[in-house]
Amino acid sequence: MANNQDKFKQVIAHAKEYGYIFSSSEIYDGLSAVYDYGQNGVELKNNIKTYWWKSMTQLHQNIVGLDAAILMHPKTWKASGHVDAFNDPLIDNKDSKKRYRADVLVEDYVEKLEQKVQKEIAKAKKRFGDNFDESQFVSTHPRVVKYRTRSKEILERLAKSLTEENLADVKALIEELEIACPATGSRNWTDVKQFNLMFGTKMGASSESASDLYLRPETAQGIFVNFSNVQKTGRMKIPFGIAQIGKAFRNEIVARQFIFRQREFEQMEMQFFVKPGEELKWFEYWKDQRQAWHDSLGLGKENYRFHEHEKLAHYANAATDIEFDFPFGFKELEGIHSRTDFDLKAHEKLSGKKLQFFDHEEGESYTPYVIETSIGLDRMFLAVFSAALQDETLDDGSSRTVLKLPSILAPVKAAVLPLLKRDGLPEIAEQIVEDLKWDFNVDFDEKDAVGRRYRRQDAAGTPFCITVDHDTKDDDSVTIRYRDSMEQKRVKITELKSILNAELSYKTWLKTK
Ligand code: GAP
Repeated sequence: MANNQDKFKQVIAHAKEYGYIFSSSEIYDGLSAVYDYGQNGVELKNNIKTYWWKSMTQLHQNIVGLDAAILMHPKTWKASGHVDAFNDPLIDNKDSKKRYRADVLVEDYVEKLEQKVQKEIAKAKKRFGDNFDESQFVSTHPRVVKYRTRSKEILERLAKSLTEENLADVKALIEELEIACPATGSRNWTDVKQFNLMFGTKMGASSESASDLYLRPETAQGIFVNFSNVQKTGRMKIPFGIAQIGKAFRNEIVARQFIFRQREFEQMEMQFFVKPGEELKWFEYWKDQRQAWHDSLGLGKENYRFHEHEKLAHYANAATDIEFDFPFGFKELEGIHSRTDFDLKAHEKLSGKKLQFFDHEEGESYTPYVIETSIGLDRMFLAVFSAALQDETLDDGSSRTVLKLPSILAPVKAAVLPLLKRDGLPEIAEQIVEDLKWDFNVDFDEKDAVGRRYRRQDAAGTPFCITVDHDTKDDDSVTIRYRDSMEQKRVKITELKSILNAELSYKTWLKTK
């Protein structure tokens, strides 16, 4: 397989070639860090949404959905702390005129130290073979210990400086570490400044009467301001959750890495309201639940790791990230936060409306605590897509590029292929499409030799091909070919629906994988 950078380029090129992702307004040379999802992309995205939505709302009796507006009263963002604190520290390079996130420059430096550690581990593994004890090695090998200790010191200092808003020290750290502009190598830096990430906009017809609004930077606040509406009309009892999928907007300072960090993106968030004092129990519960959801898709356990936060957000008393091994390394895919009663209390204070729960059993009202699970839909898309894209060498020495998407998420579930464009075979294939299309997204493909069509469907991520040949006319059977194993089976046309149903059942995927 290609190295990481080549793999990432391959992911981006493949996503475009197969109609998954295009640059936004590409004919005008695109818009930085904004992307459009093509004919296959929108299907994959919708399937990820459904997979998440069903697991949250359909499988949990105490979780309901919501679709709040993107535009919200501006006081929302004052109460939530976003107006005052939703900042990233930015730094400019005076020579290259390039702008960076100061904390990311430091984190990238630490990542390089970790890469050195991984190299030492790989070397030692090779040398010691089966006798290699990794945990002993990392705790005793002098160079590894030195790198890890240094990384820890740097990250602790960064966290402390950021918490204390000591931006001069963040700059001092960059200078001490001799971090250079990644584009040019220059070390001529400006001071570090805070930059608010919210996009402002105006509502109203005339400039005098227009009021300032923000495009929401997270979907969560739409849930908090509707807490009482949903709780009362749904007669919800603590603990209960509200789930929502929707767009969020952030004016990211550095928007790199394709759809990983965009200025317009989608979040799938769930706020789970619990009794104060029980939040850390539920925090652990939701960590397990979310890991199980990821595991169910079979992208490989080794591609995930938890990262506990050292620097907690202003609203949290515990927080962890689920990180995924993207082509550019392990990065945050999902956040799980114990948000205390910060948001409900803040909205209660600023709006003057009570946002509490009356517990009939206890005979008292209280402000619930909140556990949040928040996953970026686009990041999940990238995780699924990049893990699925593989180059394989086959037994006969030939190679293929295959997109091994979990079949439950694949845009097109089956392609129906008449072996030839004549002898009545296309008509039978069309009839199969007609029967299946009510339950599954299926394609009809008759162009080119069948081998080439298989390769095309492999690369597009279609998990099943159904081939109609001359024998079909006599035995009412077709060949079903499995994308991943390339195994072929002869089955009756009448069995197709039940075979696909079994392969594509939410129960099978969400429960047993
Ligand atoms: N409500 C909590 C919240 O918004 P966050 O860690 O800022 O927390 C949650 O964002 C998730 O949203 C992240 O784990 C990530 O998957 C996704 N996300 C955040 N910023 C993003 C961006 N610029 N582009 C794409 N996804 C993003």
